Amino acid sequence: MNITIIHGSPKGNNSITKKHTDYLIECIPNHNYTEFYVGKEIKKLENDASYFNAMIKTIHESDIIIWSFPVYYYMVPSQLKRFVELVYKKNCVYAFKGKYSTSISTSGNFFDHAAHNYMNAVCNDWDMNYIEGFPAEMLDLLKEEKRNNFMGFMEYFLYISEKKLPISKSFAPLLSNNFNYIPEPQINTKIVLDKKIVLLTDATPYDLNINNMIKTFNSCFGNIIDVINLHTVNIKGGCLGCGHCLSDGKCVYKDGFEALFYEKINTADVLIFAGTMKDRYLSATWKTFFDRNFFNGHRPVLNDKYLGFIISGPLKQNSNLRQILEGTCQIWKTPILDIITDEFNNSYELTKEIEAFAEKISKTLEINWQRSDSFLGVGGHKVFRDLVFSKKSIMKADHEYYKSHEYYDFPH
Ligand SMILES: Cc1cc2nc3c(=O)[nH]c(=O)nc-3n(C[C@H](O)[C@H](O)[C@H](O)COP(=O)(O)O)c2cc1C
Repeated sequence: MNITIIHGSPKGNNSITKKHTDYLIECIPNHNYTEFYVGKEIKKLENDASYFNAMIKTIHESDIIIWSFPVYYYMVPSQLKRFVELVYKKNCVYAFKGKYSTSISTSGNFFDHAAHNYMNAVCNDWDMNYIEGFPAEMLDLLKEEKRNNFMGFMEYFLYISEKKLPISKSFAPLLSNNFNYIPEPQINTKIVLDKKIVLLTDATPYDLNINNMIKTFNSCFGNIIDVINLHTVNIKGGCLGCGHCLSDGKCVYKDGFEALFYEKINTADVLIFAGTMKDRYLSATWKTFFDRNFFNGHRPVLNDKYLGFIISGPLKQNSNLRQILEGTCQIWKTPILDIITDEFNNSYELTKEIEAFAEKISKTLEINWQRSDSFLGVGGHKVFRDLVFSKKSIMKADHEYYKSHEYYDFPH
């Protein structure tokens, strides 16, 4: 069979995840494998149409597509997310239709299920036959039992694909309500907070609803809200996964990201993230923002700030994304304020929702309470705690932080 492997890791040939697919090719060599390095070559794919088209042609002629990616911030890396957007933008979904597909990931098994759900949902949207993937731990391949199990999975996947067994979809298509939000001329709420609110957005001039929701949110407050558009920040690219930051907390990029983080985000009391859903997540621009936060490792450095979301898109139909946002807040220890969306049928109701959001923020800050962590935060903390402790010689900055903040709360 013709098998195309799409690598999402920005590390290209040095990707740990690719070691799994290398092993597959070594153990089952009697197929025709082609590999693409989307994570490493995303800029080329974006700018070189003939290269992109050649890739799409190979995919179109394949029997099987295997997605290989590291889990980055509850999801696939920003570069792979961007590739999904390019497939839509260039009308190339047809090339994927009907193919048998699965995902292989490596990670610390933290929120890998959410990344797999994302890829599963995208493949469902593209009418592919998606078989639930294989979320390995990053060092699994070193263990014989895990290697054998991985080959068992591949044998199973290839059998189903070759026999073209029917596969049912896990995710229903997203329905959009095509509602255009027009802000009310008169806003009744006028809240004055002695706190700094920073609103981060990726809105372009075409994102009418989110721009108008931000406008209404702004008019609810008597004080000035610092609105920062991610497109105006000099962010040179997505996280490279190089791991240099693990020892000293410094990113190898020399661009505007650290200034954004230290001067704007870290000085805020309240953070609002606003954006429009693109396919099954937010935009690749938002994903780049989250991934680039990795220079803070596994340290919840924003832990004295509240965080809320304003989202345009059918979030009520996308529980995976909602869980990612809630998980982010619990792991960052930035108590969640609320998630406001434009899933309304008239502008008046949405304006009232945003006004109420502003009032809820004010009351939350006054009482200074926070939601209790659920499994997302409690379980996530334990996974991170054990990960940092077991890799303390590499994750030096995390280890120092965890020691000094008494995060090593192992049971005795
Ligand atoms: C930006 C970034 C974000 C990450 N986020 C997660 C995560 O959410 N969950 C997790 O288990 N591991 C996370 N990791 C760890 C990687 O998934 C893991 O190191 C993976 O094996 C790297 O694979 P690769 O070498 O193929 O790129 C993250 C690593 C980076 C650099």
